[in-house]
Amino acid sequence: LLLVVDFGSQVTQLIARRLRELNVYCEIHPYQKVTEALLAERAPQAVILSGGPDSVTRPGSPRAPEALFAMGVPVLGICYGQQVMMVQLGGAVEGGHHAEFGRAFVEPAPGHKGDGIFHGLFAAGREEVWMSHGDRVTRLAPGFEVIGTSGGAPLAMVADPARHFYAVQFHPEVHHTPNGRKLLENFVRLAGFSGDWTMGAYRAEAVARIREQVGDAKVICGLSGGVDSSVAAVLIHEAIGDQLTCVFVDHGLLRLGEAEEVVTMFRDHYNIPLIHADESERFLSALEGISDPETKRKTIGRLFIDVFQHYADGIEGAAFLAQGTLYPDVIESVSFSGGPSVTIKSHHNVGGLPEKMGLKLVEPLRELFKDEVRALGRELGLPPSFIGRHPFPGPGLAIRCPGEITREKLEILRRADAVFIDQIRKHGLYDEIWQAFVAILPVRTVGVMGDGRTYDFACALRAVTSVDGMTADYYPFSHEFLSETATRLVGEVRGINRVTYDITSKPPGTIEWE
Ligand code: XMP
Repeated sequence: LLLVVDFGSQVTQLIARRLRELNVYCEIHPYQKVTEALLAERAPQAVILSGGPDSVTRPGSPRAPEALFAMGVPVLGICYGQQVMMVQLGGAVEGGHHAEFGRAFVEPAPGHKGDGIFHGLFAAGREEVWMSHGDRVTRLAPGFEVIGTSGGAPLAMVADPARHFYAVQFHPEVHHTPNGRKLLENFVRLAGFSGDWTMGAYRAEAVARIREQVGDAKVICGLSGGVDSSVAAVLIHEAIGDQLTCVFVDHGLLRLGEAEEVVTMFRDHYNIPLIHADESERFLSALEGISDPETKRKTIGRLFIDVFQHYADGIEGAAFLAQGTLYPDVIESVSFSGGPSVTIKSHHNVGGLPEKMGLKLVEPLRELFKDEVRALGRELGLPPSFIGRHPFPGPGLAIRCPGEITREKLEILRRADAVFIDQIRKHGLYDEIWQAFVAILPVRTVGVMGDGRTYDFACALRAVTSVDGMTADYYPFSHEFLSETATRLVGEVRGINRVTYDITSKPPGTIEWE
């Protein structure tokens, strides 16, 4: 076990992620809980002290238990963690220097090429790193030597090789420190980790944790058919079996065949108790006559909560609500909450439900990133085609139907979307694309088919590449692909007689049309 002591940095979970990539098992514990007793109980083979927002110069600021430095195991301090090490081991830290944020360069200190955990660094002369600090170390603790120096942090990389204590001012866990992974890898190898921990092991640990948290209480899980809630449901079912009931709210805004697929997979394949709440009539009637995007989103969000609550109330003894919350959702909600950011779109989720219903949360994916959730899904045996599915928004087809939503338009949209996705799959492009769909436009245009006049809907194809959905670029389909797709759409989908391709990036556009 590698123990990560969390001093509250925004990027602590990235340390865990890098360690998982190196197949090393770690646990993150908040510094307040890292007591001598915990150290004795967990007996870590190595420790990493994370960064944090406080200043070690402030009286009463967080510290590590002294016992941690007496265990005889390798310790790596990062940013605030470095400063904690220095002050606790007899060095000094000062505030009030020029703060350093963002990219910086570390030069090797005279006489140091970089070995031990710094092995392989400085190959290009200096190391690009990512810094974020206001204080800095001004005097080394006894036994330490300086390995690397940056403009803002003369003691940016320090080591006490005899005790295997290492400390860096920068963040090796972020992508902006290109060789950070190398440094962490050197550290775990030096600490004797063989790197044999796997997603299979994560699964077993997660199952044990869910059992411990839930006991013999009942859990409700809102299933959307997306990857996150599905993986969460299958994992929880593995842990507690039929103490779990899934509620799948079908709002009538799903894609062709989607509801059947979800129900078949969970009920028949996984034997998970599933309530299929077919409430499409209710949603579609409520949406009648609404064309404003925010009103649509809010109507769907409100109804969803009512419907979900109604079904959940019928499950006796339910004490927990399961959610497929991922780590990026957690960081975003922390760093943006209360911030001055503008609402671009009211996102549809079940936030607020747990308090209203008096339920506690089970969020077994809270530490994971999307690609790790997919890996866990594969580990749990979810079909690859399912795991690789493009994201689909909570409000569904409603936001791909600008203007008023009608059953006729939804039907056309479903069939058009199926043809477009079929084309993408046939051309082997599905996995290269983050998300692809058709939007039906609120205009009819004139066309000619055979010898007759048509007056049907125009549609827009949307396909984007993205890493996280925050920014996106349109996918550069070939002209052959586009014309073949347009021909198929107009030929196969009654009600569409014109096809356009949306080539807006995000920003300034958004991925969805509403
Ligand atoms: P936009 O359109 O804002 O979308 O560029 C970014 C990503 O988020 C998805 N999206 C949603 N997902 N509930 C969701 O669960 C929503 O209300 C919602 N709105 C947009 C969108 O499909 C894209 O992947």
